[in-house]
Amino acid sequence: MDKNWNVATMAVQGAYEPKNTDPRVLPLHMSTTYVYDNCDELAKVFDLEQDTCMYTRLANPTSNAFEAKIAAMEGGVGALATSSGMAATMITFLTIAKQGDSVLSSSAIYGGSVTLFNTTFKNMGIEVIMFDQDASEEEILALAKPNTKAVFAETIANPAVCVLDFDKLSSVAKKLGVPFIVDNTFATPVLCKPLELGANIVVHSTSKYIDGHATALGGIIIDGGNFDWTNGNFPDFVEPDESYHGVKYVDNFGECAFIVKARAQIMRNTGMTPSPFNTYITNLGCETLHLRMERHSENAVKIAKYLKNHEMCAWVKYPGLEDDKYYELAMKYLPKGQSGVMSFGVKGGREASKKFIDSLKLAKLVTHVSDVRTCVLQPASTTHRQLSDQELIDCGVSPDMIRLSVGIEDVNDIIADFEQAFAKVK
Ligand SMILES: Cc1ncc(COP(=O)(O)O)c(C=O)c1O
Repeated sequence: MDKNWNVATMAVQGAYEPKNTDPRVLPLHMSTTYVYDNCDELAKVFDLEQDTCMYTRLANPTSNAFEAKIAAMEGGVGALATSSGMAATMITFLTIAKQGDSVLSSSAIYGGSVTLFNTTFKNMGIEVIMFDQDASEEEILALAKPNTKAVFAETIANPAVCVLDFDKLSSVAKKLGVPFIVDNTFATPVLCKPLELGANIVVHSTSKYIDGHATALGGIIIDGGNFDWTNGNFPDFVEPDESYHGVKYVDNFGECAFIVKARAQIMRNTGMTPSPFNTYITNLGCETLHLRMERHSENAVKIAKYLKNHEMCAWVKYPGLEDDKYYELAMKYLPKGQSGVMSFGVKGGREASKKFIDSLKLAKLVTHVSDVRTCVLQPASTTHRQLSDQELIDCGVSPDMIRLSVGIEDVNDIIADFEQAFAKVK
């Protein structure tokens, strides 16, 4: 792989380099275990001195190739594939924070992440302090505590479709001396590379655009290798890890300290590992990511404009619309496209929105977004139904909201489907 390749070439050919007579396509290594000729060599793997596979909970050749591809696409120094996007978020935070710590998170994030933070993390003694990402840098800084260990936000928020102000939040994280973690699920490295914009760690639900076909659940964590873990706030990165033969992550692994700790400590102890079959499938899907993101974004702008001008549409939020609150940030950070995800309401409120969804034919009602097929969902009654009214408002979710994920079909067929559904709501 040539490090200078553009993201599209990385998506197609990154990481897997077949030698003479090897299979052309990245093979599926569906094996839990690996053979070694002698004990000393295997011992080196256990001591993290040799970078080969010994057990699939920790590493697998198919998953490793996929990890190397996504790390290259994001511009990171290493990556760790996980069993789901939730697992990626969980492992990332557990690598950095422990009982008695706190982290700062935007409130405009995926509902599942809100629940993880406000219940599971709370029960584990990690406090998540939520902030309004439209607040000023000073207001967000004022919420931090001496035990704050990270700042977290999504490039394009699900489902509020706010665009992240990278300059502002990376400055907050720098002033606090903590890593800036970005969930880049909706933008993907094709539309935005957070590590070039001040982020230190990137997470994805690969179940979304990276797979792109709604076939394989998965997640991935990418280490930017650009955070100074020796700044005094992260003794666990500097002092010996007694759970792993006293390894010192910064001393032994330098710029890869975070991703090695995530794998050797948290992945090893929790086993949130993807099946090699899932990384195999996801890698195949990823080979067309650059083409799909282009078409998703192109179709979405057309649909957003159509909705905006429709008499039955109460409101539409899409950062690619010129009068959208986040248009300026979108042009600054997502100039190549703003993905296929948007939200809108149907005149008549919650019931009218439900009737619209029930009347669609081509677009399906599914608990998913960001695959090749157009789909819809009403967050208040589904993905976000565990949240309180206040949490719903904080996440930018209104009762009538329809979250729309525009696919890569012919846009005229999507519009025709919407027309017949609007006609039924009238
Ligand atoms: C932005 C974002 N992050 C994380 C997740 C969780 O990912 P998964 O469903 O793969 O666990 C999702 C799922 O919708 C998401 O949209």
